[in-house]
Amino acid sequence: MSSVMDLRFQVAPGGCLRGRLRVPGDKSISHRSVMLSAIAEGESRISGFLEGADALATLAAFRRMGVEIEGPTAGRLRVRGVGLQGLRAPEGPLDMGNSGTSMRLLAGLLAAQPFPLTLVGDPSLSRRPMRRVTEPLGMMGAQVDTSPVGTAPLILRPVAGLRGIHYQLPVPSAQVKSSLLLAGLYAEGETCISEPVRTRDHTERMLTAFGYSVRRQGARVCLTGGGRLSGCRLEIPADISSAAFFLVGASIAPGSDLLLEGVGINPTRAGAINILRAMGADIELIDRRLAGGEPVADIRVRSAQLKGIRIPEDQVPLAIDEFPAIFIAAACAEGETRLTGAAELRVKESDRIQAMAEGLTRLGIQAEPQTDGIRILGGRLGSTRGGREIDAHGDHRVAMAFAIAGLRASGPVEIRDCANVETSFPGFAGSAAEVGLAIQECQA
Ligand code: S3P
Repeated sequence: MSSVMDLRFQVAPGGCLRGRLRVPGDKSISHRSVMLSAIAEGESRISGFLEGADALATLAAFRRMGVEIEGPTAGRLRVRGVGLQGLRAPEGPLDMGNSGTSMRLLAGLLAAQPFPLTLVGDPSLSRRPMRRVTEPLGMMGAQVDTSPVGTAPLILRPVAGLRGIHYQLPVPSAQVKSSLLLAGLYAEGETCISEPVRTRDHTERMLTAFGYSVRRQGARVCLTGGGRLSGCRLEIPADISSAAFFLVGASIAPGSDLLLEGVGINPTRAGAINILRAMGADIELIDRRLAGGEPVADIRVRSAQLKGIRIPEDQVPLAIDEFPAIFIAAACAEGETRLTGAAELRVKESDRIQAMAEGLTRLGIQAEPQTDGIRILGGRLGSTRGGREIDAHGDHRVAMAFAIAGLRASGPVEIRDCANVETSFPGFAGSAAEVGLAIQECQA
């Protein structure tokens, strides 16, 4: 679905990426930092917070439920936690904008509140599947209604209490896992979630940082309701999902040598590094350290000749948000790249398999969408000269992926419906320009 305002990117072809860059804070961790500090006891101080529309939607929701939050000022927040039982009824629905993470995690966190709540989203979010959270929440005793087709708005009704469940995730989803763990904080007894494949574990790590006991045994993670969280200090790393565009850009643009500073390299998020390395990328992790309970490094990336690969399915959940960028790497690689086991890409902010296949085809690349993946044959990237622009379908990551493709395009690339880049990477065009990719933004 298109955004109301049609922001376009006009990308000049060629060039390379050089210098140093710190991309904005991690989106997943930013959401969780506000959620947990709001329901903690005492004050939390957060730095590196992503000031993008998605994380700001989460922040605004807690303000409307009576939580005092100072900032964000240059990524710093001070949150005065109200404790697990201290949230107040907001007036009117809570608007989650474009953010699936806000809606799914808050459905769990808010399922046990003693007041009714309605969660709404923009047209893209209002098409995304919500039964994956509302059904297991129902098993816990929550009453969360969706539209007849299982989408937002979500209507949460007060219930007498929640009970812990043991639940096997049918799809590998950190949002579902996190939603249930957050509901589990309010539930009687133990909540245990088993995952078929390991998904991002930021919720578990951050609960631990807030002093809440979380137990992991193999594929199962458990917590017991009724404890308390204590306010703390958190340092949020730069987002590997935003860094991914530059990892790909520097890999495909000859002469590139780029340093990305302070990027989160949590192994449950590092699939893009593993996949790009398997394709031949020259990626070096420097000064590995821990920040706020999360592994972080500076990442040096230099251009390299990439080759097509069969992407291992076990890497899919670890790189789930990075596929638009990885598809651009595949388009510039020698030979064929094949992705399977990634049907989830069809229910992201857009149908990313379709949107990327369409745009790549427009650039003259053979890209064959499949139910659960795609085949891409590397080749020469053309241009959109002649007025046939690429449609980002309002999807921030599709827009940024095609902007990066400009580095190897034979002529200018024009991308429409890019306003949602603001959801995860405010200032993307400026950051890209700092390291060598010229993007003109214009309103059409
Ligand atoms: C997220 C989990 C992933 C990811 C999303 C953020 C999270 O979604 O795509 O951008 O913060 O938990 P799924 O849980 O639907 O895979």
